[in-house]
Amino acid sequence: MNEPKLDVLTVEKIPVTDESIKGYIALATINRPNKLNALNKEVMDCLKEFCALVESDDEIRCVVITGAKPLPAEEGKRQKPNAFVAGADISEFVDMDSSAAKIKFTDNAVEAIWSLSKPTIAMIDGFALGGGCEVACSCDIRIASERTKFGTPEINLGLIPGYGATQRLAKLLGYGKTLEMIMTGEMIDSAEAHRIGLVNHVCNHQELEEFTMSMANKIASKSVYTLTVAKRTIKAALNSTLNEGIAIEAREFAALFDSQDKQIGVDAFMQRKTAEWQDK
Ligand code: COA
Repeated sequence: MNEPKLDVLTVEKIPVTDESIKGYIALATINRPNKLNALNKEVMDCLKEFCALVESDDEIRCVVITGAKPLPAEEGKRQKPNAFVAGADISEFVDMDSSAAKIKFTDNAVEAIWSLSKPTIAMIDGFALGGGCEVACSCDIRIASERTKFGTPEINLGLIPGYGATQRLAKLLGYGKTLEMIMTGEMIDSAEAHRIGLVNHVCNHQELEEFTMSMANKIASKSVYTLTVAKRTIKAALNSTLNEGIAIEAREFAALFDSQDKQIGVDAFMQRKTAEWQDK
């Protein structure tokens, strides 16, 4: 039986806890727990729509992306495991040729997440494999539970990653570790993922949501305008030489001195008040 289409991505707008800040954290939950939240076309289309919403909605200050928890086991069947996302939906690969793959993997939802101007956090509890690892790597910050497993098992399908891991994972982990993960297809646990810099934080699965939302709230309490400048400037490091990057920083830093939020932030400090950002 086909799954209901509308539910593959659940989006909640959660008010920022600091009541002096008007705005929301957008929590997007990839919702195909019976398929370990695998990324089929519907999920990818919904994620793209979600990204467009995030950019157009000024009230959204920070984004959290996660996977749905497993449903209770059906009678006589075993419980499905926890997953962030267990990869691209492999059933869509069966009859796919190179032309179809080019269309599917060009201008995809993972790139849309990567291109978001606002801060993004991946909240990861369970398998983050293939495309799941790539969704996580397209977010700015990764927070994983202790029972998470990461991996890029595409090699076992006669493939390589197609949603950016050969590049973004290499930027995060370096050349050698990325080759090891992609060539062996082996999974690593969250302690190892933390050790090699794949995740920012590891916490107990019972505390994952609270920890993640607390960080999201912390970020959401800053000026969205300044955050986007910070993100753009840091991302420039990935495509620039050191000297080019320093020049970009100098430009972005100087330009902020004409922003309202620089005035608000500096005045608030001088007057021992809390800044009330205008996000411009
Ligand atoms: N695409 C499509 N379906 C997937 C999937 C994927 N990437 N990953 C899991 N599923 C489905 C399974 O087919 C199964 O569906 P079913 O119950 O209708 O048969 C369901 O999710 C549960 O997975 P299952 O394999 O039974 O769970 P498990 O606990 O035995 O194993 C994994 C978990 C993650 C080790 C295993 O599902 C797996 O290897 N998945 C593929 C990972 C992968 O190669 N990802 C990269 C894709 S490019």
